[in-house]
Amino acid sequence: MGTRTLLIVGVFISLFAFSSCRELNVKVKNKHKQQHQFASYNHTLARILVQYASAVYISDLTELFTWTCSRCGGLTEGFEIIELIVDVQHCLQAFVGVAADLNAIVIAFRGTQETSIQNWVEDLYWKQLDSDYPGVDDAKVHHGFYSAYHNTSLKPGILNAVQEAKELYGDIQIMVTGHSMGGAMAAFCGLDLRLSLGEQNVQVLTFGQPRIGNAAFASYYSQVVPNTIRVTNGHDVVPHLPPYYYYFPQKTYHHFPREVWLYNIGFGSLIYTVEKVCDGSGEDPTCSRSVSGNSISDHLTYYGVHMGCDASSGCKIIMDPRVVGYGKTDQEGNLILSRDPSRSILKLKTDESSSS
Ligand SMILES: *[C@@H]1O[C@H](CO)[C@@H](O)[C@H](O)[C@H]1NC(C)=O
Ligand SMILES: *[C@@H]1O[C@H](CO)[C@@H](O)[C@H](O)[C@H]1NC(C)=O
Repeated sequence: MGTRTLLIVGVFISLFAFSSCRELNVKVKNKHKQQHQFASYNHTLARILVQYASAVYISDLTELFTWTCSRCGGLTEGFEIIELIVDVQHCLQAFVGVAADLNAIVIAFRGTQETSIQNWVEDLYWKQLDSDYPGVDDAKVHHGFYSAYHNTSLKPGILNAVQEAKELYGDIQIMVTGHSMGGAMAAFCGLDLRLSLGEQNVQVLTFGQPRIGNAAFASYYSQVVPNTIRVTNGHDVVPHLPPYYYYFPQKTYHHFPREVWLYNIGFGSLIYTVEKVCDGSGEDPTCSRSVSGNSISDHLTYYGVHMGCDASSGCKIIMDPRVVGYGKTDQEGNLILSRDPSRSILKLKTDESSSS
């Protein structure tokens, strides 16, 4: 009995020793990274970008391309899409456009379809780190998320649209956003804009994003794209996946910083949402990790905005014949709608199409 208690105490002491050791490491790293100027959280900007991350789910491509969809007003009014990319093969969707009020290029990625979210979450639970991230020692990433950006029609479409926009608008800020798996792709895109195009003004803001790589990757990521905020909501299950195993820091998935955790505190009938800006470790134990990730409904609403498809349409494409002229299709059937950004107001050829 005595021996057993002692053993348990011993285990606890070593756990604490282990954890304080880790804390120390993290603190040293933070000090170093502060020189890279971490992102500061801007509530106003988050409430604007969440609307872009919601709009990219819209399946009616005409309404989306012309920015007339039900989610295309409000804080995003006046946005102009330069390129809308639909990767039919992999059921992915993203757009690039210019927001004059933000003086920025905005890129948004669609997440997983709602109908398949349960299966997707279950798959993520068992997911292992399964790909080396090229060029960085020990960095490993989730192969599916990595290739959704890097090995599809999204990457070339986006890089091309960004270059076109910059020819016209110069060196304006580039803001990359997405929800759920769209957040994972946004992170890989932000990294790619820095590495492939040498872009300096890249800002990434994601909502309900899963983990995408290990600690070595997270550390590399945060040096290359320091201006990154990962918003998590309440008990949203997805930021908890794939799982983080505290005892195996080298073997496990690890978030990059900086998390901002939204949670409610209630006093009777009054409920306040707190927005907690978390530490620079990426895995702040006092943020979303302090609660269990067991909610899909928390995953589907951010800042009161619905994040998911407008129709349970799977990967159905709805397109008006009037915008077909802006589109081109590759051999695999993937679609890109694009227009010359210098023609600042998109005009649908209503007369022509009604007379024909
Ligand atoms: C936050 O973002 C909004 C919208 O881009 C901007 O107008 C405002 O100046 C920003 N605030 C700070 C403190 O940077
Ligand atoms: C890229 O995609 C193609 C076709 O979808 C596939 O055959 C190839 O294995 C993929 N490459 C990687 C590195 O995932």
